[in-house]
Amino acid sequence: MSTPSLSAPPIRRLTPRDLQLCADLSEDRGWPREEHKWGLLLSAGTGYGIDAPDGNGLMGAYVVTQYGPPGRPALTAIGMVLVAERYARQGVGRRLMRNAVDEAGHTPLTLHATPNGRPLYEQLGFEVIGRAEMVQGHFTPAKALGARGAQGAPSEVTTRPATAEDLISILRLDTEVFGHDRMHVITRLPAFTDQLRVAEADGEIVGYAGAWPNMATHVVGPLVARDTETAKALIASLGAGTDRPLRTDIDVRHEELLAWVKQNGLESVAFNTVMAYGVPELPGDWTRRFAPLTVAAG
Ligand SMILES: CC(C)(COP(=O)(O)OP(=O)(O)OC[C@H]1O[C@@H](n2cnc3c(N)ncnc32)[C@H](O)[C@@H]1OP(=O)(O)O)[C@@H](O)C(=O)NCCC(=O)NCCS
Repeated sequence: MSTPSLSAPPIRRLTPRDLQLCADLSEDRGWPREEHKWGLLLSAGTGYGIDAPDGNGLMGAYVVTQYGPPGRPALTAIGMVLVAERYARQGVGRRLMRNAVDEAGHTPLTLHATPNGRPLYEQLGFEVIGRAEMVQGHFTPAKALGARGAQGAPSEVTTRPATAEDLISILRLDTEVFGHDRMHVITRLPAFTDQLRVAEADGEIVGYAGAWPNMATHVVGPLVARDTETAKALIASLGAGTDRPLRTDIDVRHEELLAWVKQNGLESVAFNTVMAYGVPELPGDWTRRFAPLTVAAG
């Protein structure tokens, strides 16, 4: 952690007890409060924050989530980089991100940057490695009907709710596709998501996806599937299980899936830039990685 100068308030670790302060900070910046997401990130990941010198909550914060063997992280995802409006453009964001880079040591870093945050990360040496498109809307299954059946997928792919017995298979598939072990995150999914479903073909799990509550929406993520048709089947089945609009962040290389969700009720909301520091690209298999759990955690 950075050594504070006499004038600079210290950067401290945040804990789940700071959840309300974090949600207040989101609100201060015009973001949704996203308490459910903060709760996950502050338990599966590590939050850092600076108490506001005026005694009114946090001046700024960010969260890191580490992946790889315990104690020997191989990849660190950064998210929820936020500075309270009244402290904007005073170097707080830069100080927080310098701290993240220093603390990471030789561990590569990745993040999804908003247009607002991107210049700061570029100044620190992060490089653009991809893009993700945020889409949102009510999934309208009627339009998904067609030659491929009610779920818009080939008949040999079926989806069903995940059971406790599936967790080992999900973990194995996720590690292969994500490129690093993220057991501490995946094992939280049954509690964190409202729906966790697997896709099966020939008795084998070939994909899985969660839908978790975020304000008025259900966020689809992670979305891991052997191919686009399987990803469609998972989204359609999650859409059928909720009255809320779906939201998800799809890697733009998955053009066919993006076109399909837009034909079925979802609309483009924003683009985020995927950036990395210390590594030219992310490990794993992007062809089977359709959407992150959340852009804040990879
Ligand atoms: C992005 C954010 C964290 C930056 O925090 P900050 O404390 O205001 O940033 P700093 O004062 O340390 O500025 C660092 C650099 O970032 C860039 N920057 C910061 N705010 C910017 C803005 N509104 N427009 C353009 N560039 C900006 C500038 O290059 C700035 O350097 P400079 O002031 O020397 O020109 C803050 O604007 C924020 O909370 N935004 C809303 C949430 C968000 O988008 N977070 C990023 C998620 S990836």
